[in-house]
Amino acid sequence: MPELETRSPFDVVDRAERRWAYGVAGIIAFLLALIVFSSAHWAAQPPSNVETIDASRLHLAGEFMEANLGTVIERDGSATVRILAQQYAFVPSCIVVPDGTSVKFRVTSPDVVHGFLIAGTNVNTMVVPGFVAVVRTRFERPGSYATPCHEYCSVGHEGMWARVMVVGHQEFTRDYGGQSRASCARQ
Ligand code: CUA
Repeated sequence: MPELETRSPFDVVDRAERRWAYGVAGIIAFLLALIVFSSAHWAAQPPSNVETIDASRLHLAGEFMEANLGTVIERDGSATVRILAQQYAFVPSCIVVPDGTSVKFRVTSPDVVHGFLIAGTNVNTMVVPGFVAVVRTRFERPGSYATPCHEYCSVGHEGMWARVMVVGHQEFTRDYGGQSRASCARQ
């Protein structure tokens, strides 16, 4: 008669559980490392500043009135772009910014949650009514970037797109007046 298995079933279970625990700890460590790497390497920006705004009065007064939307050059030479994300369009839908310039996007919504993503850049944020989403970036070269809404915002969601056009700094000053309300059609 062969010798009986001496390991108790508890040992077997214990060992198997330990293996799974190490495996899961490894996966968690890998995912955390991925988050740290992508935040550092791609300058991903968690929502650290929580700026609130009255979503019901955006059109009536203040920063996000129609006349204030678009790109402005600040005194320090950086650009600020103010955008309204609403069902189902971005206003303005064509955003012109100069290259080689620090650009700050300030985006808010008067209705529901939208998304603001500029393909191929670090810009990727939710736009929540009642809050101003602020994202900073810099475009080194002229080009055109697709900017979809990437939070489902109801039936017109898939048609909600904008375009960011990066033009040379001189061209921005010359052809677009270096000013607010720059749209893709030259002024
Ligand atoms: Cu706006 Cu989806």
